[in-house]
Amino acid sequence: MANNSIKQIIVCGAGTMGSGIAQLAATAGFKVIHFDLSKQMLEKSAKSIEQSLQKFLAKGKLSIEEFNNAIANITYTDRIDDCRGELIIEAIIEKKEAKIGLFNQLFNLNGSNLIIATNTSSISIDAIASSIAFPAQLVGLHFFNPAPLMRLVEIIKGEATNPAIIKQMVDIALMMQKTPVICKDSPGFIVNRVARPYYLETMYMVQKGIITVEQADAVLEAAGFKMGPFKLMDLIGLDINYSVSSIVWEDLGKPERLKPSEIQKAKIDQGALGIKTKKGFYQYN
Ligand SMILES: NC(=O)c1ccc[n+]([C@@H]2O[C@H](COP(=O)([O-])OP(=O)(O)OC[C@H]3O[C@@H](n4cnc5c(N)ncnc54)[C@H](O)[C@@H]3O)[C@@H](O)[C@H]2O)c1
Repeated sequence: MANNSIKQIIVCGAGTMGSGIAQLAATAGFKVIHFDLSKQMLEKSAKSIEQSLQKFLAKGKLSIEEFNNAIANITYTDRIDDCRGELIIEAIIEKKEAKIGLFNQLFNLNGSNLIIATNTSSISIDAIASSIAFPAQLVGLHFFNPAPLMRLVEIIKGEATNPAIIKQMVDIALMMQKTPVICKDSPGFIVNRVARPYYLETMYMVQKGIITVEQADAVLEAAGFKMGPFKLMDLIGLDINYSVSSIVWEDLGKPERLKPSEIQKAKIDQGALGIKTKKGFYQYN
């Protein structure tokens, strides 16, 4: 049986993942402080959390009481001063410097006992740890998209991570009804490393004119994959997916077979980031 003394979680970042993690934590009974620099993103997150919880309610997966409690459990803020507590789950942009800057600010505010769990998809925990005030307090806690639905959570142990924190993360993941897997800090951890060719090879085939975006998705879905690679990249966010590919590629010594895609970069340069900008490999209303 999972057991944990932490009652409140600060979720930093209110984009695709932060929003889902805040919802998940609130549904699991945690009080949530949901922080983002952008008021607009916080408003968008509040709306999408309510809509998503409504769907759980309509399907009978939540009672009206659980629905109301989950909504009441979340407070939204764009002030870092409000980020006071014992545990941060961070889901801001996939940029090492941005994460390091935020973590040092949070340690200044909360002291050396603060636990920081980063949802990074690909940045090395050890590389972040080497530039923060309290490396033993950092752990990877990698949720999958959409966080309220996907069962797996990768827990990444850095060289310096306090083992007691790994145990706490396992307990918290279990309290959120997830399946935790402890992994080593290596490029892309487990799932994102294995998944690189799924995206990269199909983009390369499209670039070479071997197949269209629509055909690739249809074929792979018919072969049993839940989502075709292009629909999945639109869901993830092309910018995030490209950052992950770039980091894994660089960290593995730039192998030709894992080179980031030119057609993906071109889409990003046009601002077509996927569902979040209503335009990616497909158009959305
Ligand atoms: N998108 C996915 O499918 C997915 C899956 C697993 C993990 N991740 C990881 O989760 C993290 C977030 O990804 P996302 O897709 O939710 O990104 P996103 O682009 O949807 O959202 C990022 C949010 O971070 C905010 N932000 C940026 N700098 C900030 C700061 N200093 N302080 C507070 N907020 C800040 C932005 O305003 C934005 O709302 C990344 O590390 C990513 O690798 C993403």
